[in-house]
Amino acid sequence: MKILVINGPNINMVGIREPDIYGKQDFQALQDSIRQWAEELGVEVELYQSNHEGDLVDAIQKAYFDQIDGIVINPAAYTHTSVAILDALKSVSIPTVEVHLSDIYSRDKFRQFSYTSLAAEKTIAGEGFDGYRHAMEYLIEQYGNA
Ligand code: DQA
Repeated sequence: MKILVINGPNINMVGIREPDIYGKQDFQALQDSIRQWAEELGVEVELYQSNHEGDLVDAIQKAYFDQIDGIVINPAAYTHTSVAILDALKSVSIPTVEVHLSDIYSRDKFRQFSYTSLAAEKTIAGEGFDGYRHAMEYLIEQYGNA
């Protein structure tokens, strides 16, 4: 099974940005953790991060042609604004879990609506880095580990 983990804008700044909200561990630590969990869970993982909406759309489209089996995505601020990312996820029909480090539902009102969630099977919010592991576990449970 091949899982693509996509992170959107400013996720590369975790550890530096608002540590009270996003934690003190940096982006390298997040990537290392995801790679280690993938190994433990016996799946292939690809990691992608961009600060640009169109690049995220391109990465989602590429996942279709690369025969990715599942997507874990933290679209970050684009969660709340991007019909383009929603449409890209709908275009490829790849099982998707949306992840947020923070609990978007208990933050600003503008963070409480997610376009992406309309194309995601599940949204995990407020679990910090562990949310990515739980998202991968969900995809493996649902779609096997072939
Ligand atoms: C975030 C939540 C978003 O509202 C915010 O814009 C982010 C990060 C999270 O992981 O908690 O950049 O997606």
